[in-house]
Amino acid sequence: MTARMPPQVTLLLVGAGFAALGATYWHFYWKKEVCNANWINFNKTGLKHDLKKKLFGQHIAAKVILKAVTGFMESKNPKKPLVLSLHGWTGTGKNFVSQIIAENIYKKGMTSSFVHLFTATSHFPHESHINEYKTQLHKWIRGNVSICPRSMFIFDEMDKMHPELINSIKPYLDFYNNLDGVSYRQSIFIFLSNAGGESIVQVALHFWELGRDRREIQLKDIEMALSLSVFNNKNSGLWHTSLIDKNLVDYFVPFLPLEYRHVIHCGLAEMARKGHFPNKNVVVRMARDLNYFLKGYMRIFSMQGCKIISSRLDFYI
Ligand SMILES: Nc1ncnc2c1ncn2[C@@H]1O[C@H](COP(=O)(O)OP(=O)(O)OP(=O)(O)O)[C@@H](O)[C@H]1O
Ligand SMILES: [Mg+2]
Repeated sequence: MTARMPPQVTLLLVGAGFAALGATYWHFYWKKEVCNANWINFNKTGLKHDLKKKLFGQHIAAKVILKAVTGFMESKNPKKPLVLSLHGWTGTGKNFVSQIIAENIYKKGMTSSFVHLFTATSHFPHESHINEYKTQLHKWIRGNVSICPRSMFIFDEMDKMHPELINSIKPYLDFYNNLDGVSYRQSIFIFLSNAGGESIVQVALHFWELGRDRREIQLKDIEMALSLSVFNNKNSGLWHTSLIDKNLVDYFVPFLPLEYRHVIHCGLAEMARKGHFPNKNVVVRMARDLNYFLKGYMRIFSMQGCKIISSRLDFYI
């Protein structure tokens, strides 16, 4: 014999079922990232704040990036996509800045489905597969920009990327109104590399030797050295391509080598990020054990920048 539920209870259960369905729909509707102003909204003040407060020792990069990104994002009708090429020694903040840019444009930051990060050695490791990579990359860029014109593509280890592959993305960076019915003018391309890192270190060292404040270093002091080393270095992928000849890169952004005091700042910030109360004694012990370019006994620039701090700190906390 089956027990019968009173009609009021049945009604209540059906009602609860509908309510749960509605809540799920509501949840997915609001959680699902869409290519609109709810999810993509440039925060100029946030970008300015983050570059000033979170990024240490990079006054040139902070200034150039704020100007470039703000100008581009505020332009109603950009003539071409924004193309930034970030150069510098390891651990100086190139990926970190890309993350800051993403966080101030996309609500979901780097986890946004409109932000795409490619790393040469892991996404395009085999030279023999270059044609396959080209096809995949074309499809990926075209497909994603069709879904959302305000897409961001970050190419890491650009100096290890095959020149043919770099050449193949060239049309997307150009002034075309549209290619196969897709316009790329709202997109952002960011290239990261260590190319030119040594020349940037040389300029910073020169200023240090003259006893000049590093904040006096200007873009023009580095630009010449940077373009010479990037153009003339046969190992650097950019050298082979016409990205530079055709002025497809809007800004070359140099990242200066970081000093001991910047490592301390990074250490304190990292402690806070890990949920600890920032403790200078701990950070100083960690910073002293890192490797530096030396002049006599003077520590000048950190060899790994701020890169290994996160893992190193755990030993000292
Ligand atoms: N200038 C900086 N200001 C603040 N934090 C920094 C800076 N540089 C590096 N960091 C910290 O170190 C971490 C590693 O830096 P990041 O990955 O950005 O280096 P990178 O320049 O991309 O190095 P690589 O050339 O080796 O890829 C960052 O996540 C950030 O926490
Ligand atoms: Mg990096």
